[in-house]
Amino acid sequence: MHRDGLQSDWTLLNENIVKSPLHENVIRSNMVRKLDSFTEPVMDELRACFEDYWGSSTEWHEVNIWNSMLKFFARTSNRMFVGLPLCRNEEFLDGCRRFATDILLASLILSFITKWIKPVLGYLVIAPNWWHYRKAAKRLLPLIEFRLDKVRQNPEKDPSDILPNDFVTWSIVEAMRSTDPRERTSELIAKRTMTTNFAAIHTTTLTSTNLLIDLLSSDQKLGFMDALTSEVGAIDQTNGGSWSKSALAEMTRTDSALRESMRVSGFVVFGVQRKVVAKEGVTLPDGTNIPYSNIITVPAWSTHHDEAVYEHPFQYDALRFSRQRDALSGENQKVHVGEEGLVEGEQGYVDPKTPASREADEPARNDKDLAKILEGKNMSSVSTGSHFMQFGHGKLSCPGRFFAVQEIKLMMAYMLLNYDIKYIGTRPERKWMGTLVVPDTSATILVKRKS
Ligand code: HEM
Repeated sequence: MHRDGLQSDWTLLNENIVKSPLHENVIRSNMVRKLDSFTEPVMDELRACFEDYWGSSTEWHEVNIWNSMLKFFARTSNRMFVGLPLCRNEEFLDGCRRFATDILLASLILSFITKWIKPVLGYLVIAPNWWHYRKAAKRLLPLIEFRLDKVRQNPEKDPSDILPNDFVTWSIVEAMRSTDPRERTSELIAKRTMTTNFAAIHTTTLTSTNLLIDLLSSDQKLGFMDALTSEVGAIDQTNGGSWSKSALAEMTRTDSALRESMRVSGFVVFGVQRKVVAKEGVTLPDGTNIPYSNIITVPAWSTHHDEAVYEHPFQYDALRFSRQRDALSGENQKVHVGEEGLVEGEQGYVDPKTPASREADEPARNDKDLAKILEGKNMSSVSTGSHFMQFGHGKLSCPGRFFAVQEIKLMMAYMLLNYDIKYIGTRPERKWMGTLVVPDTSATILVKRKS
């Protein structure tokens, strides 16, 4: 699908990247297992980002949401991909951000160019991609070459023991295992790192920009910001100011605010896009045959806004999922600061369509207990399903979602603990761009450092 949609043989600058997606194996096998070791480094990067881009002034000042989120997540993502100090190098980051933007532009243009003329015009269209790749590669290639040399000089040692714990090292390990010698070149490892940057930066920026806009344009009386601030304050206190995977798992309200924003405002309009590659086509259980080379997709936006699935589907209800999770775990009696505005019967505080809310008062035990825990987990942001497709669904669902959600929750924790932010009133209009819905990139907010 990426070969059509992203014109990836051209835009990713090497056709091997999609034909043999080693970087996806790296994400699936390493990133998830090692997530916990990145909570502190990512928080450290966020501290520096907030300092650099939001500042420490205790006077109200204006910041552009999109621009700051783009800078934050280019840096936090690269803290995991390439580590310090490269993740703060402006020339490298600029190359990564522009390379990512160019992929989308170039793929759009290439999709209008017929096959036979592509070998001529294609090189012109992707010239900016090469330019931005070269800019980032100037800094990235020496790092990869240094590490590859170290591995070659120490053949008896496990590369993970002698190299830093990050995406580039995991990619080197994966490349060493590959039977294809081309994989062991610094050029291909660099292109895979840039491709992963493309998959990570704009997706996380779009999602976090929407989250801030949705929260800050909600009715202040509903107290969403207070509810989230009290949650992170309590977790921060219990954990003595240090952030770990388990501390993040406790952020069920923030997680709910995120999942709800992805549901209401998420940029993926058509989810789970697949192309039929079997020559005989695919026959569905009802007998319908979908012929070879057709593209199938699921209407994610319509499903996310379907009244039969979600009560008040166009309303941003930040605590929609955490209320259901609280009810499932029997914690719905907890009183949280800032929730006063949410009362039963008003804007769906208790979702009457959820079986969980009906059973909330029953003591949960044994199998039922386990079922409730699992049902609760299914309402977390990383959990995909036929009614939640912002990360796709199924075997090919987004492998980077665990990291993305971790980064966004850490960003929210730091922001809520350290900044006061003003509500913005009416939600700035979303823009429809082809098959994407994007937030207003000019939206600004007033912030000040808590004194
Ligand atoms: C909030 C942020 C993100 C969103 C909304 C998002 C969304 C998606 C979606 C919708 C897909 C297609 C899934 C499908 O076809 O079923 C996808 C695929 C993918 N994502 Fe993400 N993503 C995000 C962050 C990330 C990050 C941080 C990484 C890397 C660290 C990443 C790496 C990938 C890769 C490699 C694929 C291709 C998987 C494949 O084709 O097997 N994503 N993402």
